[in-house]
Amino acid sequence: MQLQTTVAGLRAALADLPRPLGFVPTMGYLHQGHLSLVRAAAAENASTVVSIFVNPTQFGEAQDFALYPRDPERDCGLLADAGVDVTFAPDEGEMYPSGFDTYVVVGGVSEGLEGAARPGHFRGVATVVAKLLNVVQPDRAYFGQKDAQQLAVIRKLVADLAMPVEIRAVPTQREPDGLAMSSRNVRLSPSERAAATVLSRALRAAEASYRQGERSAERLRQVMRQELAAEPLARPDYVSVADAGSLRELDDVHGPALLSLAVRIGPVRLIDNIALR
Ligand code: PAF
Repeated sequence: MQLQTTVAGLRAALADLPRPLGFVPTMGYLHQGHLSLVRAAAAENASTVVSIFVNPTQFGEAQDFALYPRDPERDCGLLADAGVDVTFAPDEGEMYPSGFDTYVVVGGVSEGLEGAARPGHFRGVATVVAKLLNVVQPDRAYFGQKDAQQLAVIRKLVADLAMPVEIRAVPTQREPDGLAMSSRNVRLSPSERAAATVLSRALRAAEASYRQGERSAERLRQVMRQELAAEPLARPDYVSVADAGSLRELDDVHGPALLSLAVRIGPVRLIDNIALR
């Protein structure tokens, strides 16, 4: 596996890679969720490129950015073992050189949920993903369903700007007790880690209620709130039952919908979702 840290070096390395090219953008501190994206990319393409860049423009709280876990050496070992051809790990100056002054803002789908809770987050995500796609020019790019709104924002970005790349979604990977894999989980203490299973339990409870015939979005939200209220360490940020396409909050569920929530457990803010079909 080659490691490239500059745009020029990466472009030279990419020129020799057989197409189609699969690309997995990450912020590093890789877990099985990332590796499932890498496996999907490797299975569907002749070459695989992964980026590792903790993108400062998508973090609201400076603390969250500073505390975001990093372990580039371990990441590179995992990616080499997974058969990745090139890893692109630029520093901040390479992605945002002095004078950088262009940002990408996606409307509609980026406004509710995480967009409302974290102002500027999706502007940072859309900007860095647009730049990475321009630099790598992959045939396919892979994103986790765990960040369902991010996926919707990136699909809209690519459609609206006619970017020649296919966006592929990969299902959320979970720990055996249901907790969605996330690089942030490492910051949970043992008691917080145990409490964090409440996110997937709340989603499953609402899903079960839907399967039993409940169609009122507010009653499904209530099921999630009740489940969260039973966990003393959980401080809910939002619970949502939204249209799967527009991500607008629903009154009644009659088509594809997304159940999602954001919850603070100790110092860590976790998100999770499941699709209702
Ligand atoms: O999902 C992530 O890890 C990040 O938001 C991404 C897509 C790599 C952009 O920084």
